[in-house]
Amino acid sequence: MNGAQDAILLRGLSAVYEGESVPAIRDIDMSVASGDFICVVGPNGAGKTTLLEVINGILPHTSGEGTALGLSISENGDRIRKRIGYVIQNFEIDPLSPFLCRNVVMSGRAGMIGLLRFPAKHDWDVVNRALSLVGMESYASRPVGKLSGGEFQKILIARAIAQEPEVYLLDEPFSNLDIKARGDVDRLICELNRGGSTILMVSHDVGSIPLSCTRMILMDRGRIVAEGPRNEMLQTGEISDLLRCRGSEP
Ligand SMILES: Nc1ncnc2c1ncn2[C@@H]1O[C@H](COP(=O)(O)OP(=O)(O)O)[C@@H](O)[C@H]1O
Ligand SMILES: [Mg+2]
Repeated sequence: MNGAQDAILLRGLSAVYEGESVPAIRDIDMSVASGDFICVVGPNGAGKTTLLEVINGILPHTSGEGTALGLSISENGDRIRKRIGYVIQNFEIDPLSPFLCRNVVMSGRAGMIGLLRFPAKHDWDVVNRALSLVGMESYASRPVGKLSGGEFQKILIARAIAQEPEVYLLDEPFSNLDIKARGDVDRLICELNRGGSTILMVSHDVGSIPLSCTRMILMDRGRIVAEGPRNEMLQTGEISDLLRCRGSEP
């Protein structure tokens, strides 16, 4: 399989969780070109988070094959994770967490800095720029445990930006956000894409698909059931029918 031109290329990919008999994702064929902005939409349990974890090399797939940034996902998890920024879903904040926002954002650069080196001035410059891009520069010295859900979501996005990745995997990036913060994060994601980053975002909410997204993929029960250009997909009604009849909790 030659995935050299694609940011992500999956062929017949399935993954079964340990102890389960039914695959959480099955027969996934997907190609994401460099610079694409793709949204995967589907109801609760469709396999969206599982898909991102398999791409990021966190969860091994059980059949099929896949590459991310031209590297086989079954053998290169560590290398892939250094070059992909993953914003996870519904991260729980411990209210007692003493870590300051700027340190959490710096942790996005851990793969680059390595274990035995301290962050240099350049690393702090990147962190400060990431904080300012998400509008959180004045929160740099606050403990993350004191943030609201929306503020923490922005810190997680800043952490991914500080990693300076080629690809962003965004899992429900609008969860926990109020309307204003949604607008801010929407603009930010579109700007990252305009700057050349590849975006693969997943969402259960068809009302939150950014305008810059060009292609949508609909998942249900672990499979891809439809895909096409954003505007065509939103007009078919297939997505809203599926989300309405299965519920749309994240
Ligand atoms: N750690 C796990 N062990 C076993 N089954 C899991 C695990 N995580 C998720 N699943 C199951 O895999 C399926 C897909 O889940 P998930 O990828 O989280 O869906 P989505 O993100 O679309 O809501 C669901 O049926 C879910 O219950
Ligand atoms: Mg999920």
